[in-house]
Amino acid sequence: MVDRLYFPFVVTLGLSAVAIGAALWIGPTGPDDALLAARWTARAALPLFLITYLASSLYRLAPNAATRGIVQRRRQWGLAFALAHSIHLAALLVNITLYRPRPLASLAGGALAYGFIYLMALTSNDAAQRAMGRWWKRLHSVGLHYTWLIFLISYGSRAFHEDPAYHIEGRLFAPLLLAALAIRLWPKYGIGQRAQPV
Ligand code: HEM
Repeated sequence: MVDRLYFPFVVTLGLSAVAIGAALWIGPTGPDDALLAARWTARAALPLFLITYLASSLYRLAPNAATRGIVQRRRQWGLAFALAHSIHLAALLVNITLYRPRPLASLAGGALAYGFIYLMALTSNDAAQRAMGRWWKRLHSVGLHYTWLIFLISYGSRAFHEDPAYHIEGRLFAPLLLAALAIRLWPKYGIGQRAQPV
């Protein structure tokens, strides 16, 4: 059996391989392959982000073996999300450089999110946590919520896109992201304080 520490990375590589494989299989042309790969690799990264984002809150709300296991390995889940989004980055670089160049200004919001994702990944170790003190928590809290915001904007805009083909994922995942925020805030405001973070 796969060592539990490696499990998040195995899930990530599996989901991303399915996303890219399906894009190459279904896309009728090169530009379609690239667009679908960018779209589906982002979709593959979403569950990994939600696990990382909600690990502590879920444990506080419902302390059990499963939520404890997630919170104890949240560092691996966070690094696995960084890996998944690196695969999204690779797919979208193909999309942008080969098929659909975009103005630099339109990339700023997403680029800043990547800055946060890689800063969080680089500081996901005990030595950085000790050295940064309270700034570690600030960086990771701001970084996670900014990443959440980019996901929400991406799916929120799809929910009301002029092309109805975008509506399903937007109307499914934007409410899911709002629910995730509510779950994060819930224990903070005194409800569900049944277990302390591990
Ligand atoms: C400069 C950085 C980025 C660029 C250029 C970019 C580019 C793209 C492209 C080309 C697509 C496919 C568009 C389509 O379906 O029409 C896409 C989809 C998406 N991206 Fe990115 N992206 C970036 C960063 C990010 C980040 C940081 C996040 C999340 C934090 C993110 C989340 C998404 C989501 C949620 C989708 C839609 C997936 C779906 O349809 O289910 N992207 N992105």
